[in-house]
Amino acid sequence: MKINNRPIPLAQIAVIGVPVLLFLLLWAVDGFAPLRSKEPPIQVRSDMYYQSKSMAQESSTFFADRKAMRDHVPGTVPRNGTMYPYTSPEEAEAELRNPLAVSSAVLARGKNRYHNFCAPCHSVSGQDTTEIVRRGLQKPPNLAADNAKGYSDARIFHVISAGQNIMPGYADKLKEKDRWAIVHYVRELQKAPLKYPAIPSASSDTTDGASGQRGRASTAGTVQSAGAPTPTENAEQVP
Ligand code: HEC
Repeated sequence: MKINNRPIPLAQIAVIGVPVLLFLLLWAVDGFAPLRSKEPPIQVRSDMYYQSKSMAQESSTFFADRKAMRDHVPGTVPRNGTMYPYTSPEEAEAELRNPLAVSSAVLARGKNRYHNFCAPCHSVSGQDTTEIVRRGLQKPPNLAADNAKGYSDARIFHVISAGQNIMPGYADKLKEKDRWAIVHYVRELQKAPLKYPAIPSASSDTTDGASGQRGRASTAGTVQSAGAPTPTENAEQVP
């Protein structure tokens, strides 16, 4: 066979082509496995699969307090972070207005942040009991109950930013805009009907189910009428 009167270099093509074909065949049979498999691939070299590092919540023998995760250095502000300046809800209410208009994007962002940061304790609906409560955390108040419904946007923003009693503040973890977006989303949750209406009866301070709602609602009411919330005795329980 000839092209343009020159013989086709079959031998050369075979020398390159056969290994390439073999390689493609092998790759197709086995090579895609690491892309499909959840198992780590067979390691000829370990690359960087194994590193000496500390995972979140792990203990460590390196630090004297045996915690791998380090606390903020007192008096410092995280990078890109701002200090939350208000110490009482009244101060916050006097100064702050929700700068965000409600929009589907704002609500979607609020929902996303709420699910990540609030739902573990307050539940997705804001009304239910969560696993963390079943395992011992004080039941948070129902976010759709009259008490929280009566809070101004600024007050909810203040609770998110500075915390309230055993609820920790999130000013260092959530951007200001995200906190306002959450406020809008909490308002959205509050439009749902109350799942566990408070039963007007004798005092009960249990922390599960509907009766927990009742116990917490009354305490939260006290907090509200007293103005600035005071830390409860079990404030240390929250990590
Ligand atoms: C670690 C669990 C936990 C997380 C996370 C949490 N909260 Fe709370 N929250 C609580 C508890 C407990 C209370 C009740 C505190 C008290 O005794 O006053 C509370 C109280 C509140 C209140 C006041 C309700 C009232 O009736 O007084 C609001 C509003 C609130 N949380 C909103 C949020 C939002 C929004 C988020 C997410 C940014 C959030 N919380 C994250 C546990 C949590």
